[in-house]
Amino acid sequence: MSTNLQLALPGLVVEREVEWVFSEDAAEEIMVESFVHTTVMRDLVAQMLRENAKTESPLFVDATLGGGGHTEALLESSDAVRVIGFDRDPAAREAAATRLARFGDRLRIVAAPFSRLPEELAALGVARVDGLCADLGVSSPQLDDAGRGMSFRREGPIDMRMDPTSGETALELIDRLSDEELADVIFRLGDERRSRRIARSLKRALQENDLHTTLDLRRAIVRAVGPVRVGGVDPATRTFQALRIKVNAELEELETLLAVARDVLAPGAPCAIISFHSLEDRLVKQAFRVREQWNVVTKKPLGPSPEEEEANPRARSAKLRVATLPMAAEVDDGEAAPESEEP
Ligand SMILES: C[S@@+](CC[C@H](N)C(=O)[O-])C[C@H]1O[C@@H](n2cnc3c(N)ncnc32)[C@H](O)[C@@H]1O
Repeated sequence: MSTNLQLALPGLVVEREVEWVFSEDAAEEIMVESFVHTTVMRDLVAQMLRENAKTESPLFVDATLGGGGHTEALLESSDAVRVIGFDRDPAAREAAATRLARFGDRLRIVAAPFSRLPEELAALGVARVDGLCADLGVSSPQLDDAGRGMSFRREGPIDMRMDPTSGETALELIDRLSDEELADVIFRLGDERRSRRIARSLKRALQENDLHTTLDLRRAIVRAVGPVRVGGVDPATRTFQALRIKVNAELEELETLLAVARDVLAPGAPCAIISFHSLEDRLVKQAFRVREQWNVVTKKPLGPSPEEEEANPRARSAKLRVATLPMAAEVDDGEAAPESEEP
């Protein structure tokens, strides 16, 4: 059964005790001349969606198109596959459009955050899709491009937005929040126990007109906590990551995605999500655990092979969880799941 025969293609409370994996410390120095992102669990994600989809001619959503690796694997798997790819980063969309041009109108690229999935699909005349994947977090080019301000290794503006055309920059965030609010962000989203000291130091640097670039930001952090690398981790890592997660509302976006996925997936359709740290993974695990809402396919999260980990250090912390929506008859709250509609 194809669910979209006519695709119109032309405040979160976070517990303590999170295990963090800091991608920057695993990353080697890379000069970014073009948009190159090594896709994590590329074929496995495509396989999970194809195997669990209820149709041989599926329409999938890739909620995090990035450089287009997962979408490419899906489109390569069959000429009958179509994909709608979302990304809020204009550079990612442009790179993916170029890389995937050969698939013609089997791919549609949408410039929107994935929290807007229902509205954007409705605007395309699509009621239901046959599977969805999301590969969370930032791409290597976003991290490595000094101009994006996400890296403490490269001098750039204190920006950190995935979509540089909208929303508040990290510098504006630091300015707007009180010392306590800033410390709270750094503590909860960075699991940084020296958050108060760091927040005070950042605010002081701002007052003294000494906070303009990512290197200034790192310096203000080091001023608060010292230059010592604990466990090989740069002292700025946790704070940078916390600010980035906050600036991009990454956890709120994920919560919304997990909620709206059920409204856009066809009965029985799979949802595959790769997360890179425990704050994200916990949200995915908790959402999939609600029994009448999802059937869990991966009892334990899947990870990359040792070969992939070796080749791509960023893959080491990746966890893939897959669940399918119940078929209409399986919904046990007495309410039938909505029929999939043709556009
Ligand atoms: C890890 S990369 C995806 C890489 C992609 N799977 C590939 O193989 O190239 C994550 C991408 O998701 C995008 N992204 C992150 N959060 C998003 C959101 N809430 N809405 C839309 N795009 C988002 C980022 O801009 C980034 O390009």
